[in-house]
Amino acid sequence: MSERLLDQYGRLPQEIRDDPYPWYDRLRTEAPVHRVTLPHGEEAWLITRYSDAREALNDPRLSNDPANGKAPAPVGFRHMGNSDPPDHLRLRRLVAKVFTPRYIATLRPVIEQTATELLDSIDDRSEVDLISQYAHPLPLTVICQMLGVPSSDHDALRGWFATMAAIGAAPADELEAAFGSLMAYFSQLIAAKRAEPTGDLLSELTAVRDGSDSLDDTELLSMAFALVGAGHETVTNLIGNTVVTLLRSPAQLREVLDDPALIRSAVEEVLRFESPVPSAGARYTTEPVVIGGVEIPANEHVMIGLGIGNRDPERFDAPADFDLHRSDIAHLAFGHGRHFCIGAHLAQLEAEIAVAMLLARHPETTLADPDAPVEWLDGVARRGVRRLPLTLR
Ligand code: HEM
Repeated sequence: MSERLLDQYGRLPQEIRDDPYPWYDRLRTEAPVHRVTLPHGEEAWLITRYSDAREALNDPRLSNDPANGKAPAPVGFRHMGNSDPPDHLRLRRLVAKVFTPRYIATLRPVIEQTATELLDSIDDRSEVDLISQYAHPLPLTVICQMLGVPSSDHDALRGWFATMAAIGAAPADELEAAFGSLMAYFSQLIAAKRAEPTGDLLSELTAVRDGSDSLDDTELLSMAFALVGAGHETVTNLIGNTVVTLLRSPAQLREVLDDPALIRSAVEEVLRFESPVPSAGARYTTEPVVIGGVEIPANEHVMIGLGIGNRDPERFDAPADFDLHRSDIAHLAFGHGRHFCIGAHLAQLEAEIAVAMLLARHPETTLADPDAPVEWLDGVARRGVRRLPLTLR
């Protein structure tokens, strides 16, 4: 079964971008694994079922190292997400020493303070774009503060990442320039933290030790880049997807307003229902592998569908229904197994706080134009709202 599939470098047909789920359902019903062609002509294999995806995520024959595909990862991308054991375990263990649940819990006041300042800065008398005014700056500010990026540099970083995120839309030279600026910026920041630690995550990472092991400068650079890259637009999309889903489900929004403790369940169900990262990072077969009865030869690119798996009726009752009270919600939105998202708790905490504080301050929030179609982002690598015009009161 072969499909022409557009990835983050290309554009999806409008109707699929707006609502990819019927298309996902068709793919999953037709075959458990599809041969797909990416826009640059690269061939890949797409896994569509929950059970196959979950197994594939932890299959040691599927490598995260691009060297097992066509080319090794360039500098800046040699991080744990692109590595296999034993390197992966080594990098992850070093970072996990700093990125502990206790450390994440200490970020609550930082997140609340950032949300308060953003809400204070919004003029609620006119239409507001939740994404650019709240959902995007919030996680970027939080991750920058965590890493110890001075606030005077946040805007520059935001600009470079915005150019990078617009892959396909931005011309190649702008993209390269943005990437170069980010690398140069983080290199000098790492040198500064090594010379004079300031008690933030990046300073801690320069000093972290596991026996005689530590992170070298190239690894730190990739790590800083990966943390900011993986840790902001994903959360923006989770916040946006949660707000848009609740506004489109008035009865469940009412429940959440009456009992804010339900916001946690709402975020969890949105992770399943509108997964912000619909496909895991690229995997490459190191030997022929049979998945869902389909043999995939060695050195092939495999895409593991998370958003597709999270709508699999074999796994979830009425998967197309958003249901705050779903009891069994073991979704794949943060992956599974050894590459399970290291920022999952932080992402949930940020989204819960962001949505709770928005609704507490503006319980009357509505879509500015309930009849206007929601503008979804391009690409199958992310699911999020481009703009979310709201009336707050
Ligand atoms: C809603 C927000 C987020 C979603 C949906 C998400 C999703 C994911 C997924 C699906 C993976 C596994 C990818 C794979 O197996 O190929 C992953 C890994 C990762 N995530 Fe997240 N993520 C989110 C937020 C964050 C945040 C806030 C951070 C850090 C501040 C972060 C850092 C990472 C890192 C470093 C990895 C690689 C882990 C490894 O390879 O061992 N993520 N994330």
